[in-house]
Amino acid sequence: MTDYRTLRVALLGAGAVGSQVADLLLKHGDELADRAGATLELAGIAVRDVDAKRDTDLPRELFTTDAETLIVGSDIVIELMGGIEPARTQVLHAIASGADVVTANKALLATHGSEVFEAADQVGAEVYYEAAAAGAIPIIRPLRDSLAGDRVVRIMGIVNGTTNYILDRMDTEGADFADVLAQAQALGYAEADPTADVEGFDAAQKAAILASLAFHTTVPLDAVHREGITSVDAAMIESARHAGYVIKLLAVCERLTADDGSESISVRVYPALVERTHPLASVHGANNAVFVQAEAAGDLMFYGAGAGGVQTASAVLGDVVSAARRHIAGGVGVGESTRANLPAVPIGHVITRYQITLEVDDQPGVLATVAGILSEGRVSIATVEQTVIEADENSRSGGSARLVIGTHKAREQDLSETVERLAASGVVERVVSVLRVEGN
Ligand code: NDP
Ligand code: HSE
Repeated sequence: MTDYRTLRVALLGAGAVGSQVADLLLKHGDELADRAGATLELAGIAVRDVDAKRDTDLPRELFTTDAETLIVGSDIVIELMGGIEPARTQVLHAIASGADVVTANKALLATHGSEVFEAADQVGAEVYYEAAAAGAIPIIRPLRDSLAGDRVVRIMGIVNGTTNYILDRMDTEGADFADVLAQAQALGYAEADPTADVEGFDAAQKAAILASLAFHTTVPLDAVHREGITSVDAAMIESARHAGYVIKLLAVCERLTADDGSESISVRVYPALVERTHPLASVHGANNAVFVQAEAAGDLMFYGAGAGGVQTASAVLGDVVSAARRHIAGGVGVGESTRANLPAVPIGHVITRYQITLEVDDQPGVLATVAGILSEGRVSIATVEQTVIEADENSRSGGSARLVIGTHKAREQDLSETVERLAASGVVERVVSVLRVEGN
């Protein structure tokens, strides 16, 4: 066996991901040493409760509740606690102590990324975070390194495993939202507080991270438009199916170029309709898929496990090996590139297609009134389907009807003002749903 230099590795957290990282580090130590050019010694594992049951069988003596002491003298600190505090304090402590940091913590990076990266820059340390977006899928390194010589135009993808698992099971099996969410939690896909998943916060954090890398711009979380999937019900899924669509929670990051050549970006997360023939429609379970469109490279697609302990551990360990190689080779970290500093536009500027579902009085002239309001609002109709939902046998016209209107591309602000006018028009009984149509 080669006599390698030993690097001390501290692990913070042994939950769904951390327990698998520790297990693989211990099991595959020799192989990892050959790849890293250094022996990776797991010095300890900081947790809240040293006696808690773990997903993998780990030596009891490695556990401690004293993260601060464990970090001192470590070469690489792996942060897998999640959340903002004490993760932020411990990551900054690790950097100040001279360690490189590996983290999967998108909540931390999307809210305190600048602080963490600046602290690392000051001491020449590196922060690795491949697992912070799209689980096991290599997407950070491709954006940061492989595409550093290109110009990314658009990223569109499914970046949250829990919500894809929920929407997929609702679509394919008619499963109940709450039941499937509980299963996603049991399988280790969901965040400690699953509101982060179902309300789109987790996907928005990942979108901020991906857009920052792709557009060389610090994208703060509050620049990301966010909508979750809690309003998606069985009726919406059935109606989408009827029209040839599936509902997916999408993250879209776009570079926009104005007529005068000035550039801005749009970063948004929302449930959207995707045509059933589109590759994103066949992303099932907790899998993720990310499309990247770059000026020179053209279209690229990344696909794989978006959540799950052992799957995410793969991305974390890849980062650990990279950090170890850098330690052995020496030199300072490359830091983040944010020089482009592009402004983010509000959601009202976004241009896309929509599907509007309305319940209307089934009376003569109603369709014309609805069409008139859309036309006045500069929203052009592409398709209309009307279904009688409550017939009035004694009348020459019906009682109520459902109108499903597909639009051509429209500006979000025009669309939302038009929907408000429709709601107030007197002929519309209820706006059932308004969904964006993405994917082409
Ligand atoms: P878990 O909630 O399963 O595990 C968190 C771990 O951190 C636990 O071992 C817990 O200790 C420990 N911990 C939490 N707070 C403290 C504290 N104050 N002091 C010491 N230890 C603490 O999280 P996951 O493993 O699911 O996620 C870890 C990170 O990875 C998160 O940032 C998450 O967003 C990210 N991630 C998760 C993925 C997944 O599929 N689960 C995929 C991609 C990224 P104890 O066990 O004693 O309570
Ligand atoms: N809760 C996250 C998800 C974990 O479901 O995608 C992976 O980041």
